[in-house]
Amino acid sequence: MCGIVGYVGRRDAIPVLLEGLRSLEYRGYDSAGLAVIYRNRLQVTKTAGRVQDLRAKVNDRIKANIGIGHTRWATHGEPNDINAHPHTDTAARIAVVHNGIIENAEQLRAGLAKRGVTLVSDTDTEALAHLIAAEFAHDEQASLEDAVRRALRHVEGTYGLLVLDLQHPGELVVARNGSPIVLGIGQSEMFVASDVAALVRYTKQVVYLDDAEVATVHATDYHTAGLDDSVRHTGGSSKEPTTVEAEAGDYELGAYEDFMRKEIHEQPEALRRALRGRLDDRFATAKLGGIDLDARQLRGIRQVKFLGCGSAYYAGQMGAVLVEELARIPSDAEPASEFRYRNPVVDPDTLYVAVSQSGETLDTLMAVQELRRKGGQVIGTVNVVGSAIGRECGHGVFLHAGPEIAVASTKALTNMEATFAMLALLLGRVRDMSTATGQRIVAGLRAMPDHLEAILAAEEQIAETARRFAGADHMFFIGRVRGWPVAREGAQKLKEISYVHAEAYQASELKHGPLALINQSMPSVIIVPADELLTKNISTIEQIKARGGPVIAVTNADLPADLADAVITVPRGEPELDPLLFNVPLQLFAYHTAAKLGRDIDKPRNLAKSVTVE
Ligand code: G6P
Repeated sequence: MCGIVGYVGRRDAIPVLLEGLRSLEYRGYDSAGLAVIYRNRLQVTKTAGRVQDLRAKVNDRIKANIGIGHTRWATHGEPNDINAHPHTDTAARIAVVHNGIIENAEQLRAGLAKRGVTLVSDTDTEALAHLIAAEFAHDEQASLEDAVRRALRHVEGTYGLLVLDLQHPGELVVARNGSPIVLGIGQSEMFVASDVAALVRYTKQVVYLDDAEVATVHATDYHTAGLDDSVRHTGGSSKEPTTVEAEAGDYELGAYEDFMRKEIHEQPEALRRALRGRLDDRFATAKLGGIDLDARQLRGIRQVKFLGCGSAYYAGQMGAVLVEELARIPSDAEPASEFRYRNPVVDPDTLYVAVSQSGETLDTLMAVQELRRKGGQVIGTVNVVGSAIGRECGHGVFLHAGPEIAVASTKALTNMEATFAMLALLLGRVRDMSTATGQRIVAGLRAMPDHLEAILAAEEQIAETARRFAGADHMFFIGRVRGWPVAREGAQKLKEISYVHAEAYQASELKHGPLALINQSMPSVIIVPADELLTKNISTIEQIKARGGPVIAVTNADLPADLADAVITVPRGEPELDPLLFNVPLQLFAYHTAAKLGRDIDKPRNLAKSVTVE
């Protein structure tokens, strides 16, 4: 959602903070700020706008060895200079940056105002700076960690919090409840961030904080402790660092103009990683070591339910189609946000699958917690190792897509689908799926990365089609059965990055309402696999054409000439796996529409990469 970065060590802190913020900008980008200690004062610089605007605003003469920074996606208070983080107390002693939402902010702000404190911003975060300062007013000798710990006792809500104190000029204190915080352990220097993206160019040794943990960080040492501990721990309670897999290059554009196109092109390789070691030729099944269920337990599953948000929900819908087709187990998908609020009936024989690229989406995390409270069996399919959803689920399957930076999910989504295909194969093979069918699916999955390469090689043709229709204000995306979630995800991609209004419909539902909207200025993108529903889809195209609607067919069938106004060709693989392939040209279609319209593709307006708030 927002990005946090902190540094203490011998380097010039400001360039480290700015560089860290730049690599976190994909998480929030409406305002940015930093605070350092310089000549015994807190120097705070902040601005509405991007990190480059902050860079232009900082005074080059300031040299500091400790500091904190933030890039924001506004929740409380509009994005302007004053609401940007860091926030300070009245005496400008304490500076804080914060991700998450303080739920009792209004109450805390009112309490502070009553005590004569003037709040200058509209944010929930500012109250934290004043609360911490107030702890020192009660106990001058308190450690910064204890002051933070005590202040947080008054706070309800979620936070990843980083605090700098003028009176403790060599240390940073962090606390976590619901929003990620990771420490980067260097040689006589330490880093703090909300995401390893900001650290990997400096160190691969990291410590992930858990919820309800706090840490104090100096240049040469750190320690972690529980937030509820009555006194601060020293020595033995610290967590050991782990090594991150990511490389600094994963977070750089290289030869690409934006991350979305880079990540679209990384898909063949990312998919190879997801499949590696997981396909079992001998028994024609999948090996998913992270799922802790034996054959008997797998057979006991009577229903599979996928839960996710946004694209992860649509991927789950594709997963449900795969599970029903391949394993013949009833399956569906639901937005995690709906699930958690509707007091769901949790069935002990249902396998719940939490789907999330980031592993941080609050609605999905809450759905998992609700399930666990009610005794549901839940596995996670997440991309970010060490993330909250992965840890909360306890077991599951990692997606291995590598870091995904663009807001619009591409390679993670493809790997979600491949993972669900493997899950469906595994569930099918402990039931009635024959060895021959299992072998066919294994071979079909193995062929997928090459098919993706073929699609990417045809990018320019897809781009031409996208540019041709980029003037439309509205578009339909139409599919049926396997093509239906593909159409939904295609519409989602188009609207989120190009701002063209796109609506998905089941082909069969067209005649029950939406046909009324078809005319020359309403193009329809139609998913037409060469499967048993081909003739049905051809008649859908004819219905649209008869009403003057332009048609873009995405197909691996040999369609009659001139049936569609434009054709996007997809390679032919195993029919059950078609959604994996059909989704990729739609990513390119959305991308090139947005490019033609001059959109900021990696940072679409009003959206964030992971939504860690309600
Ligand atoms: C946000 C993003 C979407 C993403 C969704 C779920 O809404 O804008 O692109 O699909 O979150 O994210 P997750 O990290 O849980 O997959």
